[in-house]
Amino acid sequence: MLPRSVDTADVEGKVVLVRSDLNVPLEDGRVADDTRIQASLPTLRLLLERGARRVRVCSHLGRPKTDEDRAKYAMAPVREAVNAALGDERVEVLENTRFNPGETKNDPDFARELADGCDLYVDDAFGSAHRAHSSTVGVAELLPAYAGLLLLEELRNLGRLLGDVERPFVIVSGGAKVEDKIGVLQNLGDRADAVLIGGKMAEDVRTDNPFTFEAILPVDVVAAKEFAADAETQVTPFDALPDGWLGLDVGPETRDEFARRIAGARTVFWNGPMGVFEWPAFAAGTVAVAEAVAACDGFTVVGGGDSVRAVHEAGVAERISWISTGGGASLELLEGKELPGVKAIPE
Ligand code: 3PG
Ligand code: MG
Repeated sequence: MLPRSVDTADVEGKVVLVRSDLNVPLEDGRVADDTRIQASLPTLRLLLERGARRVRVCSHLGRPKTDEDRAKYAMAPVREAVNAALGDERVEVLENTRFNPGETKNDPDFARELADGCDLYVDDAFGSAHRAHSSTVGVAELLPAYAGLLLLEELRNLGRLLGDVERPFVIVSGGAKVEDKIGVLQNLGDRADAVLIGGKMAEDVRTDNPFTFEAILPVDVVAAKEFAADAETQVTPFDALPDGWLGLDVGPETRDEFARRIAGARTVFWNGPMGVFEWPAFAAGTVAVAEAVAACDGFTVVGGGDSVRAVHEAGVAERISWISTGGGASLELLEGKELPGVKAIPE
């Protein structure tokens, strides 16, 4: 069951508190990628169109700890971007919720402070729905709570992967840490027709396979003599990396094999790059997966910051069925866990 939609709320003349996920990457004090801001706008526009008197938008930004972090993670650049997009005086972007130490403890005092003067609460922050914080859970207990449009779209699209999927169902997983993905793969892996694993994670799975299904590992890798963008490289078999060399990308044979399997899929979930794609010499594997997922005409879902960035860099984002705005939240949902931010909203 999905939480009740903001679409069903009577907001005319009301003061609405919205929790968005405006936790965007910053560079030199500017918004470096506005995907999450753009994704948050439809709910804000809906509230304005339906005559909300005020729309108070709150979000965390980064993980501020020290006093210096307060300057670094101030909401000003995000606020500017939201105001520029909406140009409506009824919208007010509040300061970073994590500047209040109570936020991450789900402190009821901070929740009361946020809820003060508001008539209802809309949670649109899918990316933070795995956090039980004052702004995601505490306020939902104080005000009539509704789910925003983005939150609902995320639940619908990711939820499809948990239900009866069209087959073949192919999962592609990568990245550095197997611990982050293990829960998802344990929950979904047995139901997939193929699980393709690349990245550093593939080496961990080869030495100590934690899964009950048989994962498809790389056959070759792009090996580097050292961990550097301009390192000397050679293509070697996956299980014959020369001593001291590092596998920093999947090799050409693996790329072809992974692309072939993705091409034949009717449902694809991809999370995690195939190598150190930030460096051009080791980007080919991740780009090949991005292109294959885009070319597949089945239902395709990409989640997690790095793979999302890769589909944007490869210029194929428009051809993916659903790109999740959540990293940890999408993984926890697909692990089969209940997300506290979702549970806090009535059905
Ligand atoms: C994210 O970027 O994953 C979300 O905004 C949550 O941020 P957090 O991991 O710092 O809670
Ligand atoms: Mg995270």
